[in-house]
Amino acid sequence: MGKKVTVVGAGFYGSTTAQRLAEYDIFETVVLTDILEGRPAGLALDLNQSRAVEGFETKVVGATTGTDGSGYEAIEGSDVVVVTAGFPRKPGMSRMDLLEVNAKIVRQVAENIAKYAPNAVVIVVSNPVDEMTALAQIATQFPKNRVFGQAGVLDTARFTNFIAETLAVPVKSVEALTLGSHGDTMVPVPSKCKVNGKPLSDLMPADKIEELVVKTRNGGAEVNNLLKTGSAFYAPSAAAARMAKAVAEDSGAVMPVCAWVDGEYGISGVYLGVLAEIGATGLKKIVETDLTDTEVAGLKEAAEAVRAKQADVANL
Ligand code: LAC
Repeated sequence: MGKKVTVVGAGFYGSTTAQRLAEYDIFETVVLTDILEGRPAGLALDLNQSRAVEGFETKVVGATTGTDGSGYEAIEGSDVVVVTAGFPRKPGMSRMDLLEVNAKIVRQVAENIAKYAPNAVVIVVSNPVDEMTALAQIATQFPKNRVFGQAGVLDTARFTNFIAETLAVPVKSVEALTLGSHGDTMVPVPSKCKVNGKPLSDLMPADKIEELVVKTRNGGAEVNNLLKTGSAFYAPSAAAARMAKAVAEDSGAVMPVCAWVDGEYGISGVYLGVLAEIGATGLKKIVETDLTDTEVAGLKEAAEAVRAKQADVANL
């Protein structure tokens, strides 16, 4: 049997994720769902009509779902489910402003995933992502290694882009890393950043690195302010699709994800952005990397900030 992946939410983030997953041509089926009547079916039809030109065989299926759980039969047997459902930020909003409204949506989606795709690996991207990931785990009751969130791959991609632009080098020559939360306590990790193997600190002054760190932290908001409606989706969907691909291919790729941390870096009992090995069973293991004292302190600060909020979501 070929692999099946579902993307919940057919906004820009969800539909571009579905497109990337279909164009990888590694899945038998990509299911795209939304509560809007016709939209997922229309997008699926459109994507299928692109198959001959793009040269992929994956079939895209669109399904409209109801709050009563109707339509979720379409996701049955999914190996991976990417949850993009919920509202994006408007300019001036923080991701945290979406907590209550998106919690209701994500809880309901998660309950239906548990019912219809009980063996799926769940990748959450809805914001605020650290909290929505925790909520999805609570609502599905899936083992914690089968529920994780997307943020680090995206934030790392943004940091990489800014470093490459600043030094006028190919993005391919840049190695970067961000950990922590997908918010104010994001922890870009300059000590792990290299350009053609050379430490970033040899290539730019500390204040310039700090400037790029801040730019990375605000990477989503900057796009938001320019778009005026909706939020970023090209880089976010690229990141989410890569994670789903790592699961489908059981690749063992090591990437920064929002994962349940249990003792690593002296932190426990919280979903937090750390490096982890990803495969068919979900998160295979957290990969602890050497960090400077400042970076570990940043990670601990992020852990405490998200811990407080993650406790709230249990009741939302
Ligand atoms: C961003 C949103 C998707 O960072 O969180 O663009």
